[in-house]
Amino acid sequence: MKIFIMLAILFMPVFCTAEEQGITGLTAHDIVDNRQSLDLSPRMKHRLLSNMREQLSATRNIIGMLGHDNFEGASNTARAKLGMTEGLEQVYNASNNQELIKLGIIASASADKLAISLKSKDLKKSLKALRESMAICVQCHNKFRQ
Ligand code: HEC
Repeated sequence: MKIFIMLAILFMPVFCTAEEQGITGLTAHDIVDNRQSLDLSPRMKHRLLSNMREQLSATRNIIGMLGHDNFEGASNTARAKLGMTEGLEQVYNASNNQELIKLGIIASASADKLAISLKSKDLKKSLKALRESMAICVQCHNKFRQ
């Protein structure tokens, strides 16, 4: 028993250092969530997330249609399913957060621009527009949490 305690004391600095190294390896984002909370009601939280999953699914569908040269379908999906949809507009308004609403409007304008690019049937131009549109997803996710 004594030997076990002595060994534990002896190796303590090694264990501590290892743990410290682990923590130092994390970025600030992993430790503190600096994103602004929207303070939504449970109902609105649910609505936000389910609408967001639809945005992800629509993005996937657009990529799939591009793979099949279905520019028309991709354009219609961008216009109808991306940006500020009716469901999202309700959530954004409930948050009463002007910056979020502004980003929602920018996302919508970007989805319309994407829809126009897709209509041109130019793959490179369309991919650039899709990337720009997705930059707004990333921008908003960096800033807000439910
Ligand atoms: C105006 C702001 C805004 C825009 C634009 C936006 N999102 Fe979100 N999204 C959010 C917020 C807020 C959350 C909740 C994040 C949290 O609480 O961690 C979220 C969550 C999500 C989730 C997680 C859903 C779940 O069930 O956990 C997905 C997926 C998602 N968004 C996809 C997208 C995609 C794809 C786009 C762009 C095409 C997009 N979002 C654009 C604000 C936005």
